[in-house]
Amino acid sequence: MTRKLFVTTALPYANANFHIGHIMEYTQADVWVRFQRMMGQEVHFVCADDAHGAPIMIAAEKAGKTPQQFVADIASGRKPYLDGFHISFDNWHSTDGAENHELSKDVYRALRRQELIDVKAIEQFFDPEKSMFLPDRFIKGECPKCGAKDQYGDSCEVCGAVYAPTEVKNPYSVLTGATPILKSSEHYFFKLSDPRCIAFLEEWTQSPGRLQPEVFNKIKEWFTKDEEGKGGLGDWDISRDAPYFGIEIPDAPGKYFYVWLDAPIGYLASLKNYFGKIGRDFDAFLADPEVEQVHFIGKDITYFHTLFWPAMLHFSGRKTPDHVFVHGFMTVNNGEKMSKSRGTGLDPMKYLGLGLNAEWLRYYIAAKLNAKVEDIDFNPEDFVARINSDLVGKYINIASRAAGFLSKRFDNHLSGDLGVEGRSLLDALRAQAEVIAELYEEREFGKALRETMLLADKVNEYVDQNKPWELAKKEGMDAVLHDVCSVCIEAFRLLTIYLKPVLPALAAKVEHFLRVAPLQFADAARAMGPHQIGAYEHLMQRVDAKMVEALFEAPPAPKVVPGGEDLAPEIKIDDFSKVDLRIAKIVKAEHVEGSDKLLRLTLDAGEGRLRNVFSGIKSAYQPEQLEGKLTVMVANLAPRKMKFGISEGMVLAASHADEKANPGIFVLEPFPGAQPGMRVR
Ligand code: MSP
Ligand code: ZN
Repeated sequence: MTRKLFVTTALPYANANFHIGHIMEYTQADVWVRFQRMMGQEVHFVCADDAHGAPIMIAAEKAGKTPQQFVADIASGRKPYLDGFHISFDNWHSTDGAENHELSKDVYRALRRQELIDVKAIEQFFDPEKSMFLPDRFIKGECPKCGAKDQYGDSCEVCGAVYAPTEVKNPYSVLTGATPILKSSEHYFFKLSDPRCIAFLEEWTQSPGRLQPEVFNKIKEWFTKDEEGKGGLGDWDISRDAPYFGIEIPDAPGKYFYVWLDAPIGYLASLKNYFGKIGRDFDAFLADPEVEQVHFIGKDITYFHTLFWPAMLHFSGRKTPDHVFVHGFMTVNNGEKMSKSRGTGLDPMKYLGLGLNAEWLRYYIAAKLNAKVEDIDFNPEDFVARINSDLVGKYINIASRAAGFLSKRFDNHLSGDLGVEGRSLLDALRAQAEVIAELYEEREFGKALRETMLLADKVNEYVDQNKPWELAKKEGMDAVLHDVCSVCIEAFRLLTIYLKPVLPALAAKVEHFLRVAPLQFADAARAMGPHQIGAYEHLMQRVDAKMVEALFEAPPAPKVVPGGEDLAPEIKIDDFSKVDLRIAKIVKAEHVEGSDKLLRLTLDAGEGRLRNVFSGIKSAYQPEQLEGKLTVMVANLAPRKMKFGISEGMVLAASHADEKANPGIFVLEPFPGAQPGMRVR
């Protein structure tokens, strides 16, 4: 019976390009998906950008873009990574798509009908200058425990303490530097503490095969109450107040769904969007009890996927996930922890740019993966060793050792006999097909590859014993040579089947070389049979350790800066001091009648008077975006008479040398704490 699989990976935040952690997750899921496809299963593998939330809204504002434009720009950079690493999603969508707006509202309305939505007023920090409630990460202050300065509103990076933002001493808003005030507002809650939810989750999480044992043990603590009735699940705050980039809550003006409510619904939205494109019935598919819904995620987002998400689905009358497969984190160079947003260490685009083969990394990641929630480390020496000695040394070598004789002596025809010894070797290889398939199914990729390499060892022993290079020199041994080389090529085909989920591009080259149809897992049971194969072309290079070193080298100091402009001639510090730069507050910003380039700025540089400055930034900013912000101004520039009035200074902004080809103007803004009038030196 054909399985029907709906498979997803976590939806990446649309505020940055992919880092190695994303590529690791996509590789794990992609290997599993490709294996399922090779087994003849029906698979729909989708993902999307996670577009909503306050951090993205703020990042967009800083970039001078609408949130929609900002996430669209990030989305447009996804393809080179996905193609580059052979990630075979059937669809890529966005949580800001129409399908997600609609589905999220549907889910919410259903929960409301179930009386699982509550409204309560809560007090939260509010930035009075920006007129918005502040997410914890946008509040900083002194750690209530150790007193360290500039710590985030939820935890201290110095002593590790975790606390509520209200406990922080001398808190300030990261956005404006203002002191936040406590303000009350109504929030919407999903009543997870409802006995129906607890009962459902107890059963759902225990269902065999649904969750890894260690995942189940972990979350059990989250929803079980202790003997005194303490602990257990609290209600979940699912609303945020405007301004927010998200989906408006029905019948609640000015309230938006918290991003984590609509994000997982984005899985369904992407599938629906995909089914729209291929003309399939989305509702019928999800109503089909045979469909298996499978999510691949990292350990940090387990809570959302094993508690909130199944409860949301169940109580809105939908199918719940059949499997949530949780993986650990990828670290680089011995545990140097990856920053979620910055992604230090191994830059996947740099990897591709240096000409390193994407399938080396796929192989390396797969070789390290198992079905547990364990972190895996990228180690350069280990990487080089595994590729050169295993992949190239053991596997690729088999084809290159046999192909030369076949082409020179037998016009690339394979023999039909193969000999007793050869047949028994091939039988041994075929006998492992089921074991290896089972390991792929269980996500024990490391073991699947180890088993495959053990088989490659056997084939190499066979070659060493039969010594085709000696057979080639002996009289009357042509038939034996032909058999031995044909055995090698058939063995190579079998090993290629076992490696294809991990090495799809290489397998495609092998299929071309062997002149066979795309290999399926079932092809392991059938012999390729005598036919003429194609000419052998080198299939895979060895890794040059120098290339891997280059991957971790800091880029050389550029002669030409990224903006596309040569550096100006060197100056002395005295030259620099001649320019008097001051922090200035933009008190007012207005359009200038008759000018399509300029904005009129009224600046306060702490002088007890205001300055009038014309700035050519109209193309990049709306006046409202600038008002109230601090910037840097050249304060001792001679006043200049312009068509529209006198300009008494200049505001600093970054731009590309060729503004036509690379548009964008970015006004400078100081870190929080700077005051108007301070000198910049
Ligand atoms: N937007 C949320 C997920 C919403 S799913 C409905 C999110 N995005 S993320 O971009 O921060 O992370 C996306 C995925 O990458 C998550 O599964 C996360 O665990 C995974 N990883 C992030 N860093 C990682 C590593 N260093 N290693 C492996 N995976 C990691 O969370
Ligand atoms: Zn601290």
